Amino acid sequence: MRSYRKLLRRTTAAGAIALAAFSLQSGSAGAAPAPDPTGSVHTKVVGGSKAAQGEFPFMVRLSMGCGGALYTKDIVLTAAHCVDGSGPNTSITATAGVVDLQDAAAVKVNSTQVLQAPGYNGKGKDWALIKLAKPLDQPTLKIAEDTKLNNGDFTIAGWGADKEGGDQQRYLLKATVPFVDDAACQKAYGDQLTPGDEICAGKVDAGGVDTCQGDSGGPMFRKDDAGQWLQVGIVSWGEGCARPGKPGVYSEVSTFAANIKKAAGELGG
Ligand code: ARG
Repeated sequence: MRSYRKLLRRTTAAGAIALAAFSLQSGSAGAAPAPDPTGSVHTKVVGGSKAAQGEFPFMVRLSMGCGGALYTKDIVLTAAHCVDGSGPNTSITATAGVVDLQDAAAVKVNSTQVLQAPGYNGKGKDWALIKLAKPLDQPTLKIAEDTKLNNGDFTIAGWGADKEGGDQQRYLLKATVPFVDDAACQKAYGDQLTPGDEICAGKVDAGGVDTCQGDSGGPMFRKDDAGQWLQVGIVSWGEGCARPGKPGVYSEVSTFAANIKKAAGELGG
């Protein structure tokens, strides 16, 4: 079967999901959205439940139909496949401070700059930073700087589809997924996986719980030893959503922590 990771999936601001382009970021800019032939492209967190207001205050919804997390008060960490390259960019709106995207209390801020992972080409390195026009008055999410906590149970959250082919969600959904080691994930995905760049999670045997289309760019996180949330992953890809034998694949944040820190510095963060 064709590698799903070679497809960039994008949700429009209106919430309709479309398949944007093929793997090379440079080739995707401006490409016309086309319907997804696999029918696998629509999703929210699958198998989850509603998050409480204020439960994950670092969560951000991005107007291109992705998720993100506040790395600093004015820099959002998201997925490289959610953006169209690096440079000045005022076209993205970040919505924060609410679980209900229609809540009148939602705070919306525009982007000023995008920094896509250097060398991103659709395989691994799926991270990007978005600089905001002004700081958001919300807590940030610390990122994992080593592999120590790249194990155990992880929390996922997002406004993406709640099943393959499902609609984007108005309310933030959350779920818990267990770590899946590289060997097991390679069993599912073979060479499509870039083990050093990616960390997998999901209920491999049963399926049923996963991120899905529209959750991309959002964080996968767990508690650290001090009981603080720590980001270990960025929603990246998977074959379908929540299928048995097909775990979700996330950018391995610890691998990129130094690069992310440096990039944030370049954005004045
Ligand atoms: N690429 C998707 C997006 O842009 C995320 C897919 C995650 N899939 C999964 N099975 N965990 O929203």
